[in-house]
Parts: sequence; structure tokens; C-alpha cells
Amino acid sequence: MSTAQHGLAADIETVRTEALDRLETLATAANATEWESNYLGPRGRVTLLLRGLGQLPKEERPIAGRAAQQLRNELTDAFGPVNERLALEVIAARLVADAVDISLPGRKPTIGAAHPISIVTAELVDIFALLGFQAVFGPEVETGRYNFDLLNIPAEHPARDVWDTIHVETQGEEIVLRTHTSPMQARTMERLQPPVRVIVPGRAFRFEAQDASHEWQFTQLEGLAVDRNITMADLKGTLQEVARQLFGPERRIRFRCDFFPFVEPGVDFAVDCAICDGKGCRVCKHTGWLEMGGAGMVHPNVLRGVGYDPDEVSGFAFGLGIDRIAMMKYGVDDVRAFANNDIRFLRDFAEAVG
Ligand code: DAH
Repeated sequence: MSTAQHGLAADIETVRTEALDRLETLATAANATEWESNYLGPRGRVTLLLRGLGQLPKEERPIAGRAAQQLRNELTDAFGPVNERLALEVIAARLVADAVDISLPGRKPTIGAAHPISIVTAELVDIFALLGFQAVFGPEVETGRYNFDLLNIPAEHPARDVWDTIHVETQGEEIVLRTHTSPMQARTMERLQPPVRVIVPGRAFRFEAQDASHEWQFTQLEGLAVDRNITMADLKGTLQEVARQLFGPERRIRFRCDFFPFVEPGVDFAVDCAICDGKGCRVCKHTGWLEMGGAGMVHPNVLRGVGYDPDEVSGFAFGLGIDRIAMMKYGVDDVRAFANNDIRFLRDFAEAVG
């Protein structure tokens, strides 16, 4: 045995003892990786030993080579189970850390529901469809011409003040947030020839102090029928049928004189209270009647304004408050609840109505 071989044999022994001792102490997967690269990696101690073989005399290389290779195998074999154990510990720790309790009830997804105003609007659209009325929709930002002029409310006329208008533009052409759905009367008649039968559900806006029964934005439903020989009886029959479809077959309606520049004669109309059958209760404020809106026979000036001949055709028009109907139907006592987006109100409502 040469000196070099002696030296190599001693080195192998040193490395073996040290490597096996350290292997015992490994505590983490990171330690294991480090150990592996220290001894078995490309620059590890065992690899260096194997490389050092070249320096031995030729005849000594096979024996020394076998010894070094054997060390390599031994360490590789010893490392395998330790490495595996530590790797499993990592997985086990992660499983504990990431554990989910599958026995806990899941979080319920929030399911949306139709807004009460949308529900009532859809119901009204259906009722009017049965009566032959088509639903049309118009712009919420209007010109003074459609919101007022063509409805027989000339500029500077005091009646214009009644509508508490929110102006969008005062320079040049008057642009407003529509104060009612009535402007669609003229827009529709300009587009169609009689017979005309339309309803216009939609939002309207007024510059108003808010309280439990007034909102600066609200929802109306306009109605218009123009044909030959349309009379007040048609108006009354139509509104009566709608009230019965909405609130039950017993309902009666009441007309009282009222003034709106775009109708003549004009009325306000009410339904007898379905809660107390007209006897008087909290809901109808002890009057027995619930106000629904305004109506009347289309004013000849309005017909003329859109190019219709008032001697040939006549019509009725009405505007009802959808918020008001929703309040009555669902017993809501504050109109502001519809627009202030309180999810608790909307959720309660969704659950109550289904
Ligand atoms: N536009 C009116 C308002 O908002 C309501 C109205 C009254 C509409 C009479 C009509 C009508 O079509 O004939 O105060």
C-alpha cells in the first residue's frame, strides 16, 4: 500500500464517520439538501475523493476506487430513508397548516332578487299588455320642448313651476331631468299614427324636499291611447281593470276634477283601499281611498302639436306612481326605502316576496 493509498483510506474513513454522524442530526428538509450537496453533490467530499483517485499509482486505483465507490453507495443508501422521512415531515406540516375543516357549513352565496319597483313595473307591463298597450321607454334627460312645450305648458306659464324642475342646462336650449314620464306622449305620437296605445314606465326627477312620501327621484307609468272616438269611459274602464288586476276584483275607482295642462278635462284618480275595503284604515289614512295618479282626455293643443287632427281623433292619458303602488302592495311606509340601497331592506323584501 502506498502512502497515497493510506492517505486515501484514512480520508474515506474520516468522511464516512463524519457523514454518518451528521446524518443522524439532520432535522429539516433543508438540512438534508445541504448534507447531500456537502457529501454527494458535484463538489461534495465523496465526489472529490473519487476525483482524487487519478493521482494514485495505476495499480492501486482499482482497490481505492472500489472503496470510494462503496462509500458513495453506503452514504447514498443511508441518506435515502433520512431524506424521505424529512420530506414527509414537510408534507405533514403543510397538511396540518393548510387543513380545512370540511365539516364546517359553507358560506352561502348571496343571491340577488328583483327590486320591488322592478317587480311592480313588470306586473303593470303584463297587465297593460293584456289590454293592448305596448311598453316604450324614453330619455331621462329631456328638452324643455318635450317635457313642457308640447304638453301645453308654455315657457313663462305659471304651471311650469308646479314641476319643481332640476335643470341640467339653462344656457341655450333648456335641458332638464324629466319631471314626469309625460314627454313620451309627444315623442310617441310623433313617431306613430293612430291608433296609439302605449305605456311608459320610467324614472322622473323633481327638485323637492324629501320625506316619507316624497323622493327627488321616483318611478311613474305613463299611459296614452289615441284613436277615433276615444272617450272618458274608455279611460275609466281601463284604469278600473288595471286596479282590479292589481288589487283584486272588488276594487272600484274614483275620479275627481283636477288640472293638468295637457288634458281637458283632467282628473286625479284613486282606488278604494283594499286593506279596509274602503272603510278607512291606517294605510289609506282613514279616507278609504288610495291616490294613484292623474289622468284625463288629451288636450287638443297636444294633439295639434304632434300633427294629429283633434277633430279626427281623441285620446286619454294617465300617469300613475309606481312607488306608491309598490308601497301599498308591500306595506312599505317610506318611499325613500326604494332608492337608498339599504341591502337589509332589499334582502328582507326579497325573502318576504320570494
Ligand atoms: N305628468 C303628471 C305628473 O307627473 C301626471 C299626469 C297627469 C299624467 C295627468 C298624465 C295625465 O298623463 O293625463 O304630475
